[in-house]
Amino acid sequence: MNEEQLKDSFTSLYGADDQEIRLYFSPGRVNLIGEHTDYNGGYVFPCALSFGTYLAIRKNNQRLVRFATTNFDHRGEVKLDEPFEKEGNSWINYPVGVLNEFRKLASEIEGVDLLYSGDIPNGAGLSSSASIEMVTAFAMNDLFGFGFDRMDLVKLSQRAENQFVGVNCGIMDQFASGMGAAGHALFLNCDTLDYKRVPLRLDGMKIVIANTNKRRGLADSKYNERRAQCEAAVEALRTRKNIRHLSDLNLDEFHELSRLIPDETQRRRAHHVISENARTLRAIDALNQGDIDTFGELMNQSHDSLRDDYEVTGTELDTLVEEARKVEGTIGSRMTGAGFGGCTVSIVKEDAVEKFIREVGAAYLERTGLKADFYVAEIGDGSKRIT
Ligand code: GLA
Repeated sequence: MNEEQLKDSFTSLYGADDQEIRLYFSPGRVNLIGEHTDYNGGYVFPCALSFGTYLAIRKNNQRLVRFATTNFDHRGEVKLDEPFEKEGNSWINYPVGVLNEFRKLASEIEGVDLLYSGDIPNGAGLSSSASIEMVTAFAMNDLFGFGFDRMDLVKLSQRAENQFVGVNCGIMDQFASGMGAAGHALFLNCDTLDYKRVPLRLDGMKIVIANTNKRRGLADSKYNERRAQCEAAVEALRTRKNIRHLSDLNLDEFHELSRLIPDETQRRRAHHVISENARTLRAIDALNQGDIDTFGELMNQSHDSLRDDYEVTGTELDTLVEEARKVEGTIGSRMTGAGFGGCTVSIVKEDAVEKFIREVGAAYLERTGLKADFYVAEIGDGSKRIT
């Protein structure tokens, strides 16, 4: 749907009016390396995609906010003079959670009508929800002149998801959606929130995303379980060393102290996090030196650690990665995002991309009975106003 079509849909839904309709956009993300590290105070290296969520918004001079999307039939509304209630598992909880955070900060919202339109494949683990939150936060802040900076809006969106939606995510997805820059990946230290935009020099190569198209049932509860296991490992390590989170330890320190964690599963979870931090730092060094082969090898190792130590991959993701690695011209391949289904990300030589899609797709279908979707990623900008 283009800009004009979105505005037309908006007026046919909410009626014509003299008030200006503004358009905003926030992207989805793909994480190149640094997985399940953000809520452990570690490093991540995501980039914003060129697809995401568009939002058309207009003041309505009423004490209510109305929500609609071009993606589903479901619509909703909240009254500004009443407390906001969570509505089951509805997508509306994401924007309402954001409004709720503005309200807590005493930033008074007036009535608006909202029409969302997303072109991120749903439930693929490419952060469609973070893009809905960020586009809402960015648009409200801009339209009402609240004066928050991007980083404030990123944190506000994460709080909306943690506290209103009830998913205990880290900061990576909202950060990538809000702060992305075309042609760059974002190197973020999730403890200090210091970050750098790193140019992605992938001459003659493409980032290929493959969607398992497996429904991510129970993903939220398994995600929260992994978080709890990491926290338990920290508690056990604290009997000897005063750490705040797992990322306070390097691998040598961890090897020395790991026997303090009595539970073998928790020990492996912690090992993943700490080794993933080390891989992420090495990967960024390699990229800066133009050593893309090492970068790819570290992506492979990241997947293997997520499969063996963190156990968040599963047959579908493992199959896509195994098949990807068989294709000559694949530099590296791993799952991306939370796992338990969702997508893989691979770096593939440009002249091998077609073959990659054909061969990985065919083998995946044969082995799992599922059809994968492939997207050649373009790295886009973070949240922005369009018109
Ligand atoms: C999900 C969460 C992120 C991050 C990743 C795993 O995408 O929303 O905060 O924890 O999983 O790296």
